[in-house]
Amino acid sequence: MLRGTELANMISPPGGKTESLLEKKRRYVARGISSVAPIFVESAKGSVVRDIDGNRYIDFSSGIGVVNAGHCPDPVVDAVKAQSERLLHTCFMVSMYAPYVELAETLAKITPGSAPKKAMLVNSGSEAVENAVKIARAATKKTGVIAFEAGYHGRTLLTMSLTSKVRPYKHEFGPFAPEVYKVPSAYCYRCIFQSNYPECGLHCLEYFKRFFVSEADPSGIGSMIIEPVQGEGGFIVPPKEFLPGLKAICEEHEIVFIADEVQTGFARTGKMFAVEHYGVAPDIMTLAKSIASGMPLSAVVGREDIMDAPTPGRVGGTYGGNPVACTAALATIDFIQKEDLCGRAEKIGAVLTHRMKSLQERCPAIGDVRSLGAMVAVEFVKNRETKEPARDEVIAIIGECLKRGLLVMGAGIFSNVVRFLPPLVITESQLDQAIGIFEESTDVVCRK
Ligand SMILES: Cc1ncc(COP(=O)(O)O)c(C=O)c1O
Repeated sequence: MLRGTELANMISPPGGKTESLLEKKRRYVARGISSVAPIFVESAKGSVVRDIDGNRYIDFSSGIGVVNAGHCPDPVVDAVKAQSERLLHTCFMVSMYAPYVELAETLAKITPGSAPKKAMLVNSGSEAVENAVKIARAATKKTGVIAFEAGYHGRTLLTMSLTSKVRPYKHEFGPFAPEVYKVPSAYCYRCIFQSNYPECGLHCLEYFKRFFVSEADPSGIGSMIIEPVQGEGGFIVPPKEFLPGLKAICEEHEIVFIADEVQTGFARTGKMFAVEHYGVAPDIMTLAKSIASGMPLSAVVGREDIMDAPTPGRVGGTYGGNPVACTAALATIDFIQKEDLCGRAEKIGAVLTHRMKSLQERCPAIGDVRSLGAMVAVEFVKNRETKEPARDEVIAIIGECLKRGLLVMGAGIFSNVVRFLPPLVITESQLDQAIGIFEESTDVVCRK
């Protein structure tokens, strides 16, 4: 993620109210908490965000993939209002309430896989990943975890250990959790094996034969975790054989296959969950972000026999599955289904990809355009031959977009990728306007 200070230094605050609040933020908020855009949001609806100085922005970040159903969708806001008048909290581990159970049932039904499933609810993507690994360990009695280069799973000790990108995520924060093994991902544009797909025959799958001899005995590996499309790593879309190949390796060695769909889930890629594009049913899935339109909630959903491995009382937490958040999730999922946001994601993705590929033709700094549904990324390079990452250009483009009223964010292990995560309720004219701003901003920066 790009550091807010870098952008704040580039563009002046959009008005007096912002300026004085920024001053207070600098004084009272710990410096490690930074923001991509130096603005303070007053309200947001659909795909449009308004700041405290009255400026309007089209949102191409969705609060990092959280508002797939748009900002403040009416049915979700209504459900939250009604639930908050009835009950805010009891802690499900003290006394129970219906929305938790109803959401668990919904998640078990909408996630892929025909085996009976169960769910547990927690608060953040990181917490879901932590619990998925705990559950896999209890189920297999094996502690090792395989994770992938360029992956992102969160900021707690275990999830930071599973995450790639030293700065800003890991630098000075070690030592890391033991028994985490990293393997190459299928980042074809920057293949670690210097191969080309499909002629390569997938060295990244082949590698496991060597890995299980040189690095870790599969008899000690309890789980493998992967994002079906690596998000923070730069929207890395693997070839169609990769995920089924990993699943087969897991089956052979009795390893629990965990799909981290925290960013890819809930219609973002044109299907409810990204693994559906690959015909893979994970043993466990981790879900968060767009599950509840911004209310803090996450879930671990998986095969009943695995999910039931920890005996009563061994997993949970004070706030996990808060009734207001569960109600928001039920309303969000219903809205996604009724409004066919999967179909909408396909269309948005097709428009964005087409326009970005055309931009690539006239802009040599665009090395790669990749997408799955409405998860679209543009990777910038200084030179198409050497592929030297163009990080500064990405910072500048994001700043130019912001000046023109488009909120967009970076990604990538080299911080040289711009990722697009528009709310899936974005109108055609807003989409067209936003793409126009991005094209103009790229032209301005790349012509310099
Ligand atoms: C794939 C993935 N997993 C886990 C997380 C961590 O989620 P949270 O920030 O809610 O802890 C993220 C956050 O961006 C993510 O993209």
